[in-house]
Amino acid sequence: MLDVPDEKQLEALINSVCVALAGQGYAVLDDVLPQELAAALRNEALQLNEENLVQAGTGRKQDYHLDKQIRADAICWMQPDSDARIAYLFIMEAIRKGVNRQLYLGLFEYESHYARYEPGAFYKTHLDAFGGKRNRVLSTTYYLNPDWTSGHAGELVLYAPDAQEVLATVVPRFNRMVVFLSERFPHEVLPTTQLRYSVAGWFRVNTQPA
Ligand code: OGA
Ligand code: MN
Repeated sequence: MLDVPDEKQLEALINSVCVALAGQGYAVLDDVLPQELAAALRNEALQLNEENLVQAGTGRKQDYHLDKQIRADAICWMQPDSDARIAYLFIMEAIRKGVNRQLYLGLFEYESHYARYEPGAFYKTHLDAFGGKRNRVLSTTYYLNPDWTSGHAGELVLYAPDAQEVLATVVPRFNRMVVFLSERFPHEVLPTTQLRYSVAGWFRVNTQPA
């Protein structure tokens, strides 16, 4: 396995996440993963191609055109099938347990995918959890774009729950992670001018009947 943060570093990361979630409900964290792991994840993202990427959907599976007007990224679901993915998922598992310990969110599992936004791609304002289903509770996005400048656009915009006020405009820069309560914050990805890589993920609660 690639180097992962040690106990102390993980604890510090978990604490930053929990303090931010308990306060404003979202966290923007820089330099979250060891450089070597961040670089390995970036390399994997660069190697994604039409064979392992699929056009992302929104749940309206029948209407491809409508989907393309809402989001235009291509995704690859993440499995623990490489050193970098195993290390990434190990860290997210530590965060899951830590957040449960501190905030009692009852997070049950984590699902994630690489996302690639071609120039011009975007993802219109949406919520990650909807329909009253308490399923996706905590959203994460982790960015893999070195040397990103504000001119490259593609920012993540987080809105207040009423979707009027902008709370944060986040540049998708390398080794930055955003964590937010899925049911609380509408958000969008502004059209990007450069290839934009990320790992998007969701901690879910168990909705299966016991
Ligand atoms: C998503 C999403 C945000 C981003 O995939 O649901 O909102 O900044 N992504 O990539
Ligand atoms: Mn989203």
